[in-house]
Amino acid sequence: MAGIAIVGLQWGDEGKGKITDFFSSKADCVVRYQGGNNAGHTVVVGEKSYKFHLIPSGVIQGKKVVIANGVVVCPKTLIEEIDMLHSHGIEPDLMVSDRAHVIMPYHRILDGAEEELLGKKKIGTTKRGIGPCYTDKIARYGIRMVDIIDEKRLKEKLDIVIPIKQRIFDSYGLGKIDEEKILREYVEYGKKLEKYVGDTIYFLNSIIDEKDIIFEGAQGFLLDIDYGTYPYTTSSNPVAGGICNGAGISPKKIERIIGVMKAYVTRVGMGAMPTEEKGGEGNHMAEKGHEYGTTTGRKRRCGWLDLVAAKYAVMVNDVDEIALTKLDVLDGLKKVKVCIGYEYDDDVIEKFPSAIDVLEKCRPVYEELDGWDGSCGKKKYEDLPANAKKYIDFISEWLNKPVGIISTGAGREDTILL
Ligand code: IMP
Repeated sequence: MAGIAIVGLQWGDEGKGKITDFFSSKADCVVRYQGGNNAGHTVVVGEKSYKFHLIPSGVIQGKKVVIANGVVVCPKTLIEEIDMLHSHGIEPDLMVSDRAHVIMPYHRILDGAEEELLGKKKIGTTKRGIGPCYTDKIARYGIRMVDIIDEKRLKEKLDIVIPIKQRIFDSYGLGKIDEEKILREYVEYGKKLEKYVGDTIYFLNSIIDEKDIIFEGAQGFLLDIDYGTYPYTTSSNPVAGGICNGAGISPKKIERIIGVMKAYVTRVGMGAMPTEEKGGEGNHMAEKGHEYGTTTGRKRRCGWLDLVAAKYAVMVNDVDEIALTKLDVLDGLKKVKVCIGYEYDDDVIEKFPSAIDVLEKCRPVYEELDGWDGSCGKKKYEDLPANAKKYIDFISEWLNKPVGIISTGAGREDTILL
């Protein structure tokens, strides 16, 4: 009976969905604790494929799924996902936190406007209004789920926030915000979602000693607002510690932390990425790994595994084990590289820098290993090519953590447990 955390150690898209799916089959409940519909994952069951941006994994398997207080909820997206499940004859066993903040139309508009103003320095957000929604949460005039299920409360909140937003809209030349239209739209959302809204904090704490709960991270550690490549980050805390804030769970209740990382790195959006490979091998990773965003369809930037960044991620998350995904994508390369340090100002540094301009100037120091072929679809460690095993051992020794799970293909069965 435990809380199990599944967190991404890179810039998101590490394959957490597959690992969560694997564990959720044995769990009682799956919880999202941060982010919003900037994330995305596809679940394939038999012939059917389901795309989700908000609802946690495990919903198809009939598990209890929880959208906790740290998530920002786009009600329209959530209703679309619920309707999609209904159309397949599935009633989700879903609970959405009454404290979760709600993405409003002005958040999406401001996300786009701010990106435009940033020009060359834009973050490359998903334009889903995530940053502006978290901004309002911290500024203390956010709208929460508990507000949209009560028209009077929602009206009172909108009366406070709309004049503030209108001033910002005016300065950007964005036109008039129609408060009445927003009120009507969100009251309707509230009516549709009311039956799912509840106090997830009391609920999760009432079951955590008896049930197995998976806490499913969205995005990844290097996109964390506190630890990531700021300002090229998301606006929430994907770090394992984010579970405590984002779901109202004591650190004492998280018994196992699984850090998911790909055998190489990818990133969507802007920001430094020292091991990025713009040429041949980067294209090999992008094509073989189908590295195109689930949410925006953007091609992901690809590069060699960065163990400086990974060591930092492993330290802060203190993972119990590593789930290494997409090993098969490196099949067929003669040599594979791993970054073990950064060259900066005639020095070699092994600490991940805090300033983005420093990271931008870091040049990777590589260890080159022999490549392999034929890891794809392997289900037993013994059957992996010798050089693939050497690669895994190198990673495990460098990070001083066991690699407990290896993914060798998209299918649920293409998984090695050690
Ligand atoms: P935002 O979360 O939409 O504000 O975007 C901020 C940064 O995080 C951008 O670089 C996005 O591309 C990135 N990002 C947000 N969500 C994901 C994700 O689920 N996977 C990978 N990158 C993401």
